[in-house]
Amino acid sequence: MSENFVPTNIIVTGGCGFIGGNFVHYVVNNHSEVHVTVLDKLTYAGNPENIAGLLSDRMELVVGDICDTGLLDKLVPGHDAIEHVRAH
Ligand SMILES: NC(=O)c1ccc[n+]([C@@H]2O[C@H](COP(=O)([O-])OP(=O)(O)OC[C@H]3O[C@@H](n4cnc5c(N)ncnc54)[C@H](O)[C@@H]3O)[C@@H](O)[C@H]2O)c1
Repeated sequence: MSENFVPTNIIVTGGCGFIGGNFVHYVVNNHSEVHVTVLDKLTYAGNPENIAGLLSDRMELVVGDICDTGLLDKLVPGHDAIEHVRAH
């Protein structure tokens, strides 16, 4: 990976949780060139309200499990980075 690599289409696992939600807000509010796909299972700890209100053309929520390989096969292509903030 180049030192100057700047991702433009990222997946954030656990993006409806505490840290992930704050990270998604930071990226969407500070990096207008980046599209964020949140992948979250919405367990007891996940709350979609944590990312409510963010621009829909730059952020989408996919409800699913990071262990679902079929989902990952469909979701990952086209993304250039994954920020893994999922917890149990
Ligand atoms: N909160 C802290 O102070 C802190 C400090 C250091 C490290 N961490 C680590 O950072 C990570 C995130 O912490 P947090 O406090 O944001 O946790 P959190 O519990 O608030 O959020 C975790 C998110 O992961 C989602 N999730 C759980 N299992 C999933 C799965 N199988 N597939 C997709 N999504 C799933 C949940 O729905 C939730 O939205 C954890 O690994 C934690 O150990 C947290």
